[in-house]
Amino acid sequence: MQLADLFTPQARELAAPIWAAPPQAGAIPLISLAYGLADPVMLPQEELVEAAAQITANDVNEVLNYAPDARRLKTLIAERLCQEGVAANERQILVAYGSSQILGLLPHVLINPGDTVLVEAPTFMGAVRMFGRAGARLVGVPVDAEGLDVAALDAILHDLRAAGVRPRFLYSIPTFQNPSGATLSLARRQRVVALAAAYGVLVVEDDAYVDLRFRGEPLPPMAAMDTDGWVLRVGTFSKILAPGLRVGWAHGPKALIDRLFMFKPEGTSGPFVTHLVAQYCADGRLEAHIAALRFHYAAKCALMANALRRELPEATFVMPDGGFFIWLRLPEGVKSSALYPVAIEHGIEFLPGNRCFSDGRGDEHIRLAFSETPAAQIEEAVRRLGQAVAASR
Ligand SMILES: Cc1ncc(COP(=O)(O)O)c(C=O)c1O
Repeated sequence: MQLADLFTPQARELAAPIWAAPPQAGAIPLISLAYGLADPVMLPQEELVEAAAQITANDVNEVLNYAPDARRLKTLIAERLCQEGVAANERQILVAYGSSQILGLLPHVLINPGDTVLVEAPTFMGAVRMFGRAGARLVGVPVDAEGLDVAALDAILHDLRAAGVRPRFLYSIPTFQNPSGATLSLARRQRVVALAAAYGVLVVEDDAYVDLRFRGEPLPPMAAMDTDGWVLRVGTFSKILAPGLRVGWAHGPKALIDRLFMFKPEGTSGPFVTHLVAQYCADGRLEAHIAALRFHYAAKCALMANALRRELPEATFVMPDGGFFIWLRLPEGVKSSALYPVAIEHGIEFLPGNRCFSDGRGDEHIRLAFSETPAAQIEEAVRRLGQAVAASR
């Protein structure tokens, strides 16, 4: 009798998470461009300590006992949504431990084994994996420089309908997409919303990076264009404040928000963390911090892009207008899976492109995060990458 006999079939098949298996580094200390971590120098350490002291001094029972999550935070989220043109209502907001928790709750409410879920190709597999584990059949919709290919989406929806299949939802990252960096154009946003209404398909609009815009004007979210209740907008404080706080949220149709909440095991999120975020954000401090982040990450993105043009002139990429990543197409004939171990030997790590597709495609791409690595190391990292590419050929 083995403990593993008790595991469900889904649990038995699971591989260890990427985080649990740090690669065997070569002779030189590894520089990792693999993950979308915040730059530690931009974490507002002192202000958060100050905010923590203030909230506990104000009302220790409200903050450190079991209690509803902070109303102030929902008000703040609703205000930010209104600024984006979304007709926000605090009763239609769910606050959770990171947007990941919300994405992880979706299958409980929406997915039966065998159901179809549409995802971008490439996409953020961290989220999509949870849909797959719930038994969803994942159908990839291609992404190009303008984001999700709406003609392909239309054709897929049409074919699925002809086959009697109604997808449960479309998972989309419209702005500075993870991993491609692409931003869905205004016309395409309108088309996605129209298609969602026509086919009765929910759009899960995960806009984790929307505030980190380096250039150009903000685009309205799909949630602002939706008049019929087909969009669930998902956001996070991870990219604009601190990932370690694990505070994310969703806004959408009340029936869906209520059901997601019912599957959230701990009920409301811890009042300490929700009060802390609300306190930090007061008096325009969050918006000032976001302005600093945009400036900071734009400079690091430009630094990486210039280094790539110099060290890897045969590789190509679309310069992102914001976010954390450059999605690099490797020179002809170089495959990310074969390059990966060589890169580790050269002291550099990236996310292989096939980790960003639900069907294992993407071997000609790699995702490079410029967010965490100190600016002083980015050029060195790209130089090592250039050497690894040369060595792997
Ligand atoms: C597109 C996207 N959505 C969601 C998340 C998860 O964010 P959170 O920290 O809020 O769980 C990430 C983090 O990498 C992301 O890239």
